[in-house]
Formats: sequence, structure tokens, C-alpha cells
Amino acid sequence: MASSTKRTIAVVGATGRQGGQVVRHLLADGWRVRALSRTPAGKKGAELGGLGADVVYADLEDAASLDVAFADVSGVFVMQPPGSRSIEIEVGQGINAANAAARAGVAHVVYGSAGPGNTETGVQQWDAKLRVARGMEDLGLPLTVLRPMAFMELMVDPSFYPQSSTWYTMPRLAGVDSRIPWLSVRDLGAVAARAFAEPERFIGKDLRLAADVKSLAECRRVFREGRGKNPPRFPMPLFLFRRFVGDDILTMWRWLRENPVDADTGPTYEVLPTAMDVQAFLQAVR
Ligand SMILES: NC(=O)c1ccc[n+]([C@@H]2O[C@H](COP(=O)([O-])OP(=O)(O)OC[C@H]3O[C@@H](n4cnc5c(N)ncnc54)[C@H](OP(=O)(O)O)[C@@H]3O)[C@@H](O)[C@H]2O)c1
Repeated sequence: MASSTKRTIAVVGATGRQGGQVVRHLLADGWRVRALSRTPAGKKGAELGGLGADVVYADLEDAASLDVAFADVSGVFVMQPPGSRSIEIEVGQGINAANAAARAGVAHVVYGSAGPGNTETGVQQWDAKLRVARGMEDLGLPLTVLRPMAFMELMVDPSFYPQSSTWYTMPRLAGVDSRIPWLSVRDLGAVAARAFAEPERFIGKDLRLAADVKSLAECRRVFREGRGKNPPRFPMPLFLFRRFVGDDILTMWRWLRENPVDADTGPTYEVLPTAMDVQAFLQAVR
């Protein structure tokens, strides 16, 4: 995009992991960015403001706030926050964003989805995203769906669930040998920016995103080889873990054990040749 035109993209979840990376890549590409937050004056909002984003109030539960936030933008990045623990809430919030994008006549919606494909699995947060994407299609929105499975940040970011998750609880539920498609949040942001840069190439696409497909045992080995030590394991009884994260994460990880996923990394590297595999990611975040 020619930076002189400085068109605007609105980013839902801008203060979070995905949205934060989308904001950074869009700013780097020369877009004007409207970063949405329920607390725009907070620390993360101030950080985004410092980077050059216009940080505005919006709540996915408040349609009027979305109308203001989506006014006169060229595109919208939509995601849903984690942790609602209710498929109805997640679907409702996604559809609120979709309806607002339709009312605003937005030229391109990039939707941060998740999951293995287009069939419902019983994992609520994946099924919710399928329903939201269908709702967006029904509204006739010019749509690109980005569909990662597991973020590599799960391996190193202590803010993800209790620390026990990836190296202790997840292997117990998903199995150490189940192959898992991985993508870094940074690369999710980069792919979203590519989509906004080339709408004619990306509108109508539903991209399953994986830069690497590795079992937890393989990831553990890569971690150990790269860092000379085992990844941290923080044992936590399942009942306690469930209390932190709810049932759906447990359902998801058990699903991974029972349903082998065979993801092709080719399409991701076609869109983003610099995408990081697990080894490159673990080196980059040292
Ligand atoms: N973990 C994985 O491996 C993985 C993989 C693929 C997809 N996903 C999906 O990624 C999503 C989570 O993304 P994330 O990790 O980037 O989330 P995150 O870092 O927890 O950020 C959540 C964002 O949502 C915003 N938010 C919360 N409630 C809101 C509301 N009512 N209205 C508007 N904004 C609201 C928050 O902004 P404010 O607080 O500033 O309002 C924050 O920016 C989930 O849907 C999950 O299913 C996860």
C-alpha cells in the first residue's frame, strides 16, 4: 500500500497477542490503525498509541461502540477474546462485529479464526469461530479467514494459562506424539497484514495456517537442543487446571489425541516465506 494514502484498518483485540501483532505489522506497512480496546487509556492502549495507532474505546458487547470504531475504515481485523467459557457469548460477540462491519460497508474483513477445518468438532471455541465465519459469509462480507491451530507462544509465554499447560497438562491430554500444527502469533500478524495489502488475492480465502507440524515430544527435543535444558514443567492436578481454563481447553487437547491432524505447511510459506518453524521461533524469542 502506498503510505501516502494512509487508509485505516480497525483492529479488534489490539491490546492482545493476535491483535497486537496485527497492529504492529499494519503500522510497519504504512496503514493508519484504529486499535480497539475497552480501556483505551490503559497501559497497553498507551503503548499502542506510542507506536502510532489511534486507540479508541469499543466493546464487542456494545454495537454502538463498534459502529463508531468501524466508521470510515477500509478494513477490519476481527477476533474473539478467549475465556468467555460460553459458545453463545463467543458467537454473539463475533456476529456483533460482523453486523457492524456490514453496516459500515467495510471493504475487507480479516477474521482470526482457529481450528482444524470446516467441520464442527465439539470444541466450542473452534465451533464458535465456524459459526461466526458462516455468519460473515451470510452477510456477504468480503472475507478472509485465517485459521491457525496452536500458537507457538504457548511454549514460552507465561501469560498463557497456568504455566503447567504446554509441557505438563497438554501432553497428558493430547498425547506426546500427536502431531500439532503450529504458528507464531507474530506470523499470524504478518499474514493478516499481507491479506490487507492484497485484498484481491485474499478475499474469499480460508487459510489453514501452520508453519510447522510437530508433536510435543518433538517440540521438547527442539527446545532442549536449542537451549541446553528441558522446558519448564509445572505439575498441576487436572481439576485445578480446569478451574483456571474451563472445560473447553481440556476437550480440545483430548480431541487432538483422538483426531490426527495432517496440516500442510506449504500454503503458509507461499503467503509468508519468512514464517518461523518451531526451531526458528524458539531462537527468536530467547
Ligand atoms: N492459544 C492458541 O494457541 C490459539 C490458537 C489459535 C487461535 N486462538 C484464538 O485466539 C483468541 C485469543 O486471542 P489472543 O491470544 O490474541 O487474546 P488475548 O491476548 O487474551 O487478547 C484478548 C483481547 O480481546 C479484547 N477483548 C476482551 N473482551 C472484549 C470485548 N468484550 N470487546 C472487545 N474486545 C475485547 C482485549 O482487549 P481489551 O481488554 O483492551 O478490551 C484483548 O485485546 C481466542 O479466540 C482463541 O481461540 C488461540
